[in-house]
Formats: sequence, C-alpha cells, structure tokens
Amino acid sequence: MKNIGVLISGGGTNLQALIDKQGSVLKSGKIVCVCSNSSGAYGLERAKKAGIPTKVIRKNADCGGDMLEFSHQICAYMKEMQVDVIVLAGFMAIFGGELLNEYANRIINIHPALIPSFCGKGMYGLHPHEAALEYGVKVTGATAHLVNEITDGGRILLQKAVYVEDGDTPEILQKRVMEQAEWIILPEAVEMVCSGNY
Ligand code: GAR
Repeated sequence: MKNIGVLISGGGTNLQALIDKQGSVLKSGKIVCVCSNSSGAYGLERAKKAGIPTKVIRKNADCGGDMLEFSHQICAYMKEMQVDVIVLAGFMAIFGGELLNEYANRIINIHPALIPSFCGKGMYGLHPHEAALEYGVKVTGATAHLVNEITDGGRILLQKAVYVEDGDTPEILQKRVMEQAEWIILPEAVEMVCSGNY
C-alpha cells in the first residue's frame, strides 16, 4: 500500500473523486495528507470531512515568493507524512527543484484537455476550455500524466475524450470534462502508479 499526498488549490472535486474511489478503483494507495497553496480552498473542507490531515503552504506568504523554497516546504511536508506518490488535483502553482527530483516519476497531474492540445504555461482551470471553444474543436477531454520539468510535458498515463456540444460555455464544458473524464481517469492513473503498473 502506497501513501498518497494530494496537492490542491481550489474546489477539490478531483480530490473528492480520489477519496470516493479509495478501496474500489484505488486499491493500492491511501490518501495520507492534503496540501493546499491557498487557505480558502474548499478542497481542504473535503479532506477534513474525510478525516485526512491538511496543511496550507503559500508561495508568497510562507515562502517569500521563492519557488525553490516553496518546493522545499512541500517536499518536507510530503516526507514528514511518508508520502510515496504525489497527486496534483487542480494544483495551480508551478514548482520544481527538490520536489521534482525527490519524487521523479511519482507525481501525477490531471490536465483538462487532450495533451498536446491546449496545455503548457497559462493553460489551467477554465483557460483550456476557453481555448478549445475558441479554436472550434469538436472533441476535447482530459489527460492524466506524470510530471516533469516541462509544464504538462511528462509521460501520458491515460486520456479520455469528451464531445464539445453546441452552445457550450467554458463553464459547461469544464463540468462535462470533469464528470466524463477527469473524475474517472485520475483515480485509474493513480492506481496505475501506486501498483507500479505504468
Ligand atoms: C480541474 O479541471 C483540473 O483538471 C484543472 O483545474 C480544475 C480543478 O478542479 N487543473 C489544471 O488546470 C492544472 N493545470 P478541482 O479543484 O475541482 O479538482
């Protein structure tokens, strides 16, 4: 059984999907802590309701805006909690340094588009959906991938396609991509990494 640490920034619906799939889809790992870079993240409430320890580490307020210090503090917390596998579940901050080195090939991200479309710097949250609608694609989706030093550039673990429909707004499309893709493939990808099957 691997220990999983989840990093969040906001609503935490992907965290909720992981919590809900523990013991079924997610058999080889257990969430042992949740860390947020924002004290107002609703995902912290979801973690507390599930009895999971939480911590807030803010890049500016706690780390003087320094990315390496931010990475160091997150890494230290993950080690303190004996985390084996890290999941970025709607984590909107860029990190590098120590955390990437210590957890190489053991960090998973969920991205709300089919990589290599609508990804990279600035493509987070609603932005990939805005870009997909602006481009006029008929199919988008989500990608679960390993994290390396290139934003959204690590090895792809799973992808799932979702149709764009007439009249979609970025918000409507975001919700459909979450329901039909993200909440399904993220727990599956985490299970792949926890079981060593990737
Ligand atoms: C999700 O759509 C996730 O794919 C995206 O932010 C949302 C977070 O929702 N992540 C990124 O854009 C990361 N680059 P959640 O907090 O409800 O899981």
